Amino acid sequence: MIVNGIKSPPSLPLILVLLGLISTINGSEFSIIEATVADIQRAFADGRLTSRQLVDFYIDRIESLNPLLRGVLEINPDARDQAEIADRERRDEANCGRGSSLGELHGVPVLIKESIATKDKMNTTAGSYALLGSEVARDATVVERLRSAGAVILGKASLTEWYGIRSPLIPNGWCARGGQAVNPYVESGDPCGSSSGSAISVAANMVAVSVGTETDASIICPANHNSVVGIKPTVGLTSRAGVVPISPRQDTIGPICRTVSDAVHVLDAIVGYDPRDHEATKSAAKFIPGGGYKQFLNKDGLKGKRLGVVRNPFLDSYNKSSAISSFEHHLDTLRQKGATIIDKLEIENIDIILDPYQSGEAVALLSEFKVNIKEYLKELTKSPVRSLADIIAFNSNNPDLEMIKEYGQDEFLISETTSGIGEDVLKAVELMKKLSEDGFEKLMKENELDAMVTLGWGASTVLAIGGYPAITVPAGYESDGMPFGICFGGLKGAEPKLIEIAFAFEQSTKVRRAPPVLKVGY
Ligand SMILES: *[C@@H]1O[C@H](CO)[C@@H](O)[C@H](O)[C@H]1NC(C)=O
Ligand SMILES: *[C@@H]1O[C@H](CO)[C@@H](O)[C@H](O)[C@H]1NC(C)=O
Repeated sequence: MIVNGIKSPPSLPLILVLLGLISTINGSEFSIIEATVADIQRAFADGRLTSRQLVDFYIDRIESLNPLLRGVLEINPDARDQAEIADRERRDEANCGRGSSLGELHGVPVLIKESIATKDKMNTTAGSYALLGSEVARDATVVERLRSAGAVILGKASLTEWYGIRSPLIPNGWCARGGQAVNPYVESGDPCGSSSGSAISVAANMVAVSVGTETDASIICPANHNSVVGIKPTVGLTSRAGVVPISPRQDTIGPICRTVSDAVHVLDAIVGYDPRDHEATKSAAKFIPGGGYKQFLNKDGLKGKRLGVVRNPFLDSYNKSSAISSFEHHLDTLRQKGATIIDKLEIENIDIILDPYQSGEAVALLSEFKVNIKEYLKELTKSPVRSLADIIAFNSNNPDLEMIKEYGQDEFLISETTSGIGEDVLKAVELMKKLSEDGFEKLMKENELDAMVTLGWGASTVLAIGGYPAITVPAGYESDGMPFGICFGGLKGAEPKLIEIAFAFEQSTKVRRAPPVLKVGY
């Protein structure tokens, strides 16, 4: 390690401290490995830990592990100062002797997907050099909310560049600015995307909690592949203002964390009406329960729930793997904990729904992106690009920077040929609406389900095109160590039920384990 520029050989206890495996602060022990928000808050309250120490731990760990994992794109140069302010606020509160009025994320380090605007020293570029040097007018609303809940913004998480909409050849977890992010469980394994960095970083204990975004699969899939919990909220439950957009119909911002409880703490902090994302947040605000979502962290949450299992075709990608037998075992657990399982349900037109060229999803997203990215770019106080055409020109003029030879920008080119939200888009949106009504909605209503249960991340498109919520929870590891999850999807506003189900499942299975100790170069 390097202290003030002097290279000194580290001792083993020091290495362990740096890796956060142990720390002896004020004489008592605190381990950041798998530390939950509740653990951290207890340690703060007992005086065993300060926010500044926690930020130092995580930054040390990022400096050790991130050269391999590349889950973190930028560390916030102000994180240590923010932590010290949080520590001072906590001391002042204690001295006043009042009950704590501090938010539940007070002093807790959070990593934000890089495409979510922060008005600070960090960049917001969707992973591309095209947006480097741009300046946002203000924090994204979800960042504003995290800051007012007391969270320390530790840094920005890497992502699949432009959420993968630049070209289908861009590998999951790759962006020009960050390079290829790596799955901490299986180095050669798919980290999935596009919120890869958010999932990788919490999985590898480089931060306490993280936030990602999803248009289709971008929270559920990386959480599934990196053995963490992802909540993809009902569209509009969280504001998209200040987030690099694709489609207001499908975009949603949600937590990626190690536990359901941590994810719910983050969810509580970020939900709510926002005049800057008026229509969607207004219509979803009715779903937000008084007292927030923590009341649904109920160990008996599976009692009386009706769960519909859809196997076809989601089990196909696991047909040779031990994941299937784990899944059967998990279904038994769900039954034992009081749920009724309605098995082997089918979603009408599932083949069409899962094919973006038949469902209308591709037509709609490519047209919507061009319109919405222009709106986003217009709000920047400074930007080298102001339209998709500008971004395409930048990429063409910087072929090596953006690795155009390898990955191209074919979908950008297709998107550029579209001309606004015309008849074709309206027809595509209408078709997706009908597919959702005849498919997922009908399945849920006819069987009076509280949630649909699927293995892995494959159902994400079913939920994405209708704006429905989902939670994925770690469910096991294949023989090569690749993680897989179980996904609970519900109708709009079903977060309370999904949280009860996911939490009760997690507490009775406790599948997640931290990734194998990684080789650390000093
Ligand atoms: C933002 O990008 C600029 C330009 O590359 C860079 O100098 C700066 O360090 C970046 N900010 C952070 C916090 O990494
Ligand atoms: C396994 O799934 C693949 C598709 O992912 C399919 O082509 C293959 O036929 C399946 N095999 C069996 C034995 O079901």
